[in-house]
Amino acid sequence: MKVIRGISQMRAFTKNARAKEQTIGFVPTMGALHEGHLSLIRRARRDCDKVAVSIFVNPAQFGPKEDFKSYPRHPKKDLLLCGRGKVDAVFMPAAKDIYPPHFCTYVSVSGLSDVLCGRSRIGHFRGVATIVAKLFNIIEPDVAYFGQKDAQQAIIIGRMARDLNMPVNIRLMPTIREPSGLAKSSRNAYLSLEEKQRASVLYRALKMARELIRMGHKDASKIKKRMQRLISAHKITVEYISMVDLVDLAPVTKLYGTVLIALAARIGKTRLIDNIIVKI
Ligand code: PAF
Repeated sequence: MKVIRGISQMRAFTKNARAKEQTIGFVPTMGALHEGHLSLIRRARRDCDKVAVSIFVNPAQFGPKEDFKSYPRHPKKDLLLCGRGKVDAVFMPAAKDIYPPHFCTYVSVSGLSDVLCGRSRIGHFRGVATIVAKLFNIIEPDVAYFGQKDAQQAIIIGRMARDLNMPVNIRLMPTIREPSGLAKSSRNAYLSLEEKQRASVLYRALKMARELIRMGHKDASKIKKRMQRLISAHKITVEYISMVDLVDLAPVTKLYGTVLIALAARIGKTRLIDNIIVKI
């Protein structure tokens, strides 16, 4: 496995693979790898000749009051896990190379970036789209893998790739969960055992919504109220619960078609997100 820090070395890796007509699967990450990331790596390994993983805690996607400084960083463990996952190249660039002096070009996917998490995390998706566009330009993958837990992010990246004619397929992979149902996330490291147990109510609330829809309930606001009550009963602050169209993330009031049910909530200082996709 190659550990690559320079942009030109990363380009050389891609050039070499292309010369051999090999396909490249890419898993972008911010490190602190968990089973969710490993499932993406496994899928990339199955689909493609070469697998590249990036590890870069991207300052541009954190707000001034967010956890950029305290975001978990475990590079040694991450490299071990990538090695076990038979990754071919791990790209670990320096921030000064990704954002050189006078950097001023950002990618903004308007509309989709301003709803759901974008309402409270101003500029977050601009930072995500910008780094992912840069990584796509450097690595030139055939397929890039994203987890459904960050569904809004994946939808935004898919739209960016389509709108900017980027020759990459975006593949959305299922959310990996703890046995309790809690979605795996690097930020779960901030939670105590007791908080983790309480946080499992988020997935229970999503499953309850799915059950109500299956039973024939069609009124989104009534279902959201029931979810809110269930979650609040566990001393968790709901930031939003939304039922939206999977393509344009517009809110739906009457439930038909394919709907993304997404939520964000806070347990203490930790912000968690989760979602499910329901076909009605
Ligand atoms: O999902 C993440 O870990 C990040 O948002 C990503 C896609 C690696 C961009 O920094």
